[in-house]
Amino acid sequence: MNKIKIAPSILAADPVQLGAELKKIEEAGADYVHVDVMDGHFVPNLAYSPDIVRALRKVSKLPFDVHLMISEPKKYIEAFVKAGADIITVHEEVTDDYAEMADFIHSFGVKAGISVKPNTPIEKLEKDIDKFDLVLIMTVEPGFGGQSYIESMNEKIKKTRSLIDKSGKNIELEIDGGVTVENVSTAVKCGADVLVAGSTVFRAPDVKAVIAEMRENAK
Ligand code: DX5
Ligand code: ZN
Repeated sequence: MNKIKIAPSILAADPVQLGAELKKIEEAGADYVHVDVMDGHFVPNLAYSPDIVRALRKVSKLPFDVHLMISEPKKYIEAFVKAGADIITVHEEVTDDYAEMADFIHSFGVKAGISVKPNTPIEKLEKDIDKFDLVLIMTVEPGFGGQSYIESMNEKIKKTRSLIDKSGKNIELEIDGGVTVENVSTAVKCGADVLVAGSTVFRAPDVKAVIAEMRENAK
């Protein structure tokens, strides 16, 4: 399995201090910056545009892990890549042809991820999982930060891990939503290796300590 990566979600950062918040997580040892993009259609909320990504790109060296919770991802992928995205993740629920979508994302020279909502069975990805660099399991209903981790997703993480292992490819297994210092241990045992955390990281009094604690508990 890959080394555990921590991907703080800037949805929970202080919007007035975004630049400083990014510096803080970089100094604290985060591996990715998780950028949530919402269109008010695929999910009932709005978040971050390519312009924000472009501005933030200047203040961080970390890879930008861009999670597109939008109904028409194809329209916007190029704009996010040009703005500085390193990984682009789209949702299974809006993608008919995954293999083609993975090729489309790769054609811009970035890594490709595919995500599933809690009620979407992971078996849907069985056929072309090997086309992707990352699989993102939503552990809450997408749309908002600060929700509680859905425990039954641990079974899905296990299934995903075995699909990935079967593929023989080096695919990251990311989880997103309600991730805390307490629940990372089980999630990692089930096979997760990239941990998105919004509230847990940005609402912590000591960001460095909380990231270290997550890593420790993930061992
Ligand atoms: C939810 C987003 C998450 C969210 C996680 O739709 O995809 O990335 O910011 O926030 P927490 O960690 O607070 O649940
Ligand atoms: Zn996300």
